[in-house]
Amino acid sequence: MNTVHIVIDGKDLDVKAGKNVLDCALDSGIYIPHLCHHPDLVPAESCRMCIVQAEGRIVSSCALTAEDGMSITTNNEEIKRMRILALELLLTAHPEDCTTCPKYGNCELQMLIQYIGPTTGRLKMRTKGIKTEDRNPLFVHDMNRCVLCGRCIRACGELRGVGALVYQKKDIEVYVGTLHNKLLIDADCRFCGACAEVCPTGAIRDKISLAEEGRTKEDGAIPCKFACPAHTDIPRYIRYVREGKHEEAVAVIREKLPFPKVLGHICTHVCEINCRRKEVNQAMSIRDIKRYAAEHDTGSLWKGKGKQLPSSGKKVCVIGGGPTGLTAAYYLRKQGHDVTLKEAMPDVGGMLVYGIPAYRLPRQVVAEEALLIIDTGIHIETNVRVKKPLDLLKEFDAILIAIGGHAGVRLPIEGNSLQGVILNTDFLRNASMGVSTGIGKKVIVLGGGNVAFDCARTAKRLGAVEVQVACLETGETMLADDEEIEGAQEEGIKVYPGSTFEQITGSIFVTGVDFMKVKSFSFDENRRAIIEKEPDSGWHIKADTVIFAVGQRPDLSAEAGLELGRGNCVVVNEKSASTKLPGVFAAGDVVYGTKSVVEAIAAGRSAASEVDHYLGGDGDISEILAPVEDLDNAIPQAGYIGPCPSFGSLRRAKAVLTDAETRRSNFLPVDYGIKPEDISGESQRCLQCDLRLKIRSPRRWVDYTEQREAR
Ligand code: FES
Repeated sequence: MNTVHIVIDGKDLDVKAGKNVLDCALDSGIYIPHLCHHPDLVPAESCRMCIVQAEGRIVSSCALTAEDGMSITTNNEEIKRMRILALELLLTAHPEDCTTCPKYGNCELQMLIQYIGPTTGRLKMRTKGIKTEDRNPLFVHDMNRCVLCGRCIRACGELRGVGALVYQKKDIEVYVGTLHNKLLIDADCRFCGACAEVCPTGAIRDKISLAEEGRTKEDGAIPCKFACPAHTDIPRYIRYVREGKHEEAVAVIREKLPFPKVLGHICTHVCEINCRRKEVNQAMSIRDIKRYAAEHDTGSLWKGKGKQLPSSGKKVCVIGGGPTGLTAAYYLRKQGHDVTLKEAMPDVGGMLVYGIPAYRLPRQVVAEEALLIIDTGIHIETNVRVKKPLDLLKEFDAILIAIGGHAGVRLPIEGNSLQGVILNTDFLRNASMGVSTGIGKKVIVLGGGNVAFDCARTAKRLGAVEVQVACLETGETMLADDEEIEGAQEEGIKVYPGSTFEQITGSIFVTGVDFMKVKSFSFDENRRAIIEKEPDSGWHIKADTVIFAVGQRPDLSAEAGLELGRGNCVVVNEKSASTKLPGVFAAGDVVYGTKSVVEAIAAGRSAASEVDHYLGGDGDISEILAPVEDLDNAIPQAGYIGPCPSFGSLRRAKAVLTDAETRRSNFLPVDYGIKPEDISGESQRCLQCDLRLKIRSPRRWVDYTEQREAR
């Protein structure tokens, strides 16, 4: 490194040639007050807070290049006087309402006032009177608080290459706005948040504070990643997909879970519900992007790579080969344990195979990803039902029960045992295995979740002529995903939300179901349903088959020797996944009842960490598969996103669906994901919310403890 020798306040420093004096001082532990300067932005020299004396002149240190032999004084009476004057000038048009300002306690201007000293009162104050702009999504522009430091304009222009923000003028007041005062969406803003990130005063700020109670700033800034139960780094893999780097994208996903392709098909994508792009127009199509990457990945970055610790000499038995069990087995194997997985059914996959219909999740997708797990060296025993898991402790050092919830729930209503009444789990399992399901031609499914719609759509494909779904929840509160409900309706399935199930009619065989209309429906604190019915609203639907799809529970009896709680679930310590019996763990649906596949996978991963701990490991199951980002060199390159005309109006790409007429008679895939020609455009829509977290924090005087103590 080319260095020069300078002296700041009597301190000898060897600093990088070409660096400005302000950064030299700050990096050497010497604080010089500053406001318009930011470590990731080119100096603008607009605030004059950073003045120093060098070679007999008073100059801005942010614009002064360090030269060999230079001697600098950062503070004396003249500098102090000039700084106070500069600060007073800044404050003449700034509201004096610190305590009610949303940026209170986090405002760089406020901190600067505290450092330099009281300043108000000498110069005539004025009010800018610029209307706060809150019509934009995500950000508020409150230009009365702007001190014209220009950070936002430099961040938007030089750092991001977008250039949506410019200086504007109203009468005598200069403020930051957009060309012709357009709304951000019309000014080609990319909503990356860099402006809010660098704004020192709260003139540009997030509409909802990122670090709300219970979540960190990172969680708030990247809500998709926070919402994902596996916390996959979504903006990062979308960026890779945009660049056509599918290997890298899948490596990012595989750092958190071993089922990218499965989830690319059927994930409930809570990430999309929380996607910030939704505030601009439509959420990103995150699941389809993941699927596209997984379908175009060769595995060159992760196959046979990643963590594999040497043998620990410990033996673990995982009971249940669903998403939780397979995931746990995978990570336990990587931690060096000898893993045996026992599965009651002929194939591993659990609900991925015996619950979710093949038209949503093709069997070969599950088989392919399960095989990759098994090939890490896991002993698989299928068609093995473990009735007394505790007996396995004689042979294994630890056991993990991950048998899911494969027993359907029969509601206690009249007629619930008539011939023609079927449980969801039995029905879907039989349909999946190609054995007789026992359904007739007129089917009513009772329940409103995704499983209910799986049952209904499967019944249709098996030849039922009339299929109807009824549930207690009203339209907006129905538990199934919108796409499932719409897909079913397109296939000719009728849906009756807001209906109570009064009784199943018939003497030996089902003849129909009596319903009433729900006036209101809620749960009390004990999760008991409180239902108010509309008087005289009863009606009847004829049917020969009724499928209960009102939940699933673990298929466990007292014989298992485990403590069972609500819904027949295994009682565990929530944090450690351990039961009261040493060496016995449980995770997934068997613990909490039915949740999504991605939650089951996340549960398997965290249980693996706990079991590893118990077996003497460090519990650290993290691994690096994707290229490590060089953050120092990533800025500004990675953060330079460039302009994108009409960015805010770009529409979400649609997946290719088979038409309803064709699909309702077979189990071929319904959804083929995003078209190759659309993937670049869709990944381009991402706001890249994570980039703002890579912007360095400004240096605050309170961080320079030596000087603070000397003041
Ligand atoms: Fe140097 Fe503002 S002029 S920090």
